[in-house]
Amino acid sequence: MLYQKTARFLWVLFACLALLSLNAQAQNAKLPNVMILATGGTIAGTGATSTTTVGYTAAKVGVEALIKAVPELSKVANVSGEQVFQIASESMTNEHWLTLAKRVNALLAQPNVDGIVITHGTDTLEETAYFLNLVVKSKKPVVLVGSMRPSTAISADGPINLYNAVVLAGSPDAIGKGVLVALNDQINGARDVTKTNTVTADTFKATELGMLGYIVGGKAHFYRASTRKHTVDTEFDVGSLSALPAVDVAYSYANVGTTAVDAFVAQGDVGIVHAGTGDGSLPARTKPALVAARKKGVIIVRSSRVGQGIVARNGEANDDELDFVVSDTLNPQKARILLMLALTKTHDTKEIQRMFYTY
Ligand code: DGL
Repeated sequence: MLYQKTARFLWVLFACLALLSLNAQAQNAKLPNVMILATGGTIAGTGATSTTTVGYTAAKVGVEALIKAVPELSKVANVSGEQVFQIASESMTNEHWLTLAKRVNALLAQPNVDGIVITHGTDTLEETAYFLNLVVKSKKPVVLVGSMRPSTAISADGPINLYNAVVLAGSPDAIGKGVLVALNDQINGARDVTKTNTVTADTFKATELGMLGYIVGGKAHFYRASTRKHTVDTEFDVGSLSALPAVDVAYSYANVGTTAVDAFVAQGDVGIVHAGTGDGSLPARTKPALVAARKKGVIIVRSSRVGQGIVARNGEANDDELDFVVSDTLNPQKARILLMLALTKTHDTKEIQRMFYTY
């Protein structure tokens, strides 16, 4: 008699557990599947004390710990984590970008992945975002997120930034918007966002061209979209590439000489972005070195260190005569990215100029 009662109790207990599990799976089926790819940065950083917001160590905490620190993620998405690499983002390389881009495209091709969040250092976050904006071949959301305070600091911004990024990556409204950047409750587009402050939490801004929207109360709110082509609409594909063309940036300032330009040419660069003063101005000393580089087949792009505004063709230099390209509104570090990808397709300066007016 006791045996029968025990058996019946165990059977009822098992059935309840099975129903709870099915119910949990049913709930999960209602949530988007978001992959979190971790690359390092301050969001994975640790400091000696809770008030250490500078002088901490970036890229210490692994992806599973980042996810575990925000249990609320499971209420907005089914998240899985993958540590792609673990670096402070000032040390990002072209090779890291190719590895990341290929992994992102492979995951987005899977029907069970609805969106991707990439945790990243903020120093080069805008560059990785723009690179992916040009080579991701899916409309599914890809959201880059970082933090300005390490995970150990009072009011660390990482957890809420990660929560908002997962909300955004799982949001149907984010589909087809291009690669996005989510920090400080704001949604920015990869092309126009830049880091504007060395230490504050509101550092990412698209100052004159504007943010795209907000993430508030666990929901994404969009108010604008980029007018430039991105993701599935670009002509670039890195799937078969093991390296990117050698392109560097020559920074301009009072008294500058030709050392940087000459060194870039000597090392075999195929493109040079000139980060000029003002509207991409060419100093009397530097211009001949750039002209000589062009004559050797190096593609020259005139950009500006100013950070906002259009570098106008044939404004501060006769680009038609010099056969130079202008960067439009891309800052030097982003102009380098577009020039690298352009050079995987063509060395025709008219075609490259078209690309700078398209992306
Ligand atoms: N070392 C910097 C980086 O990894 C820290 C800045 C940050 O991640 O906020 O980009």
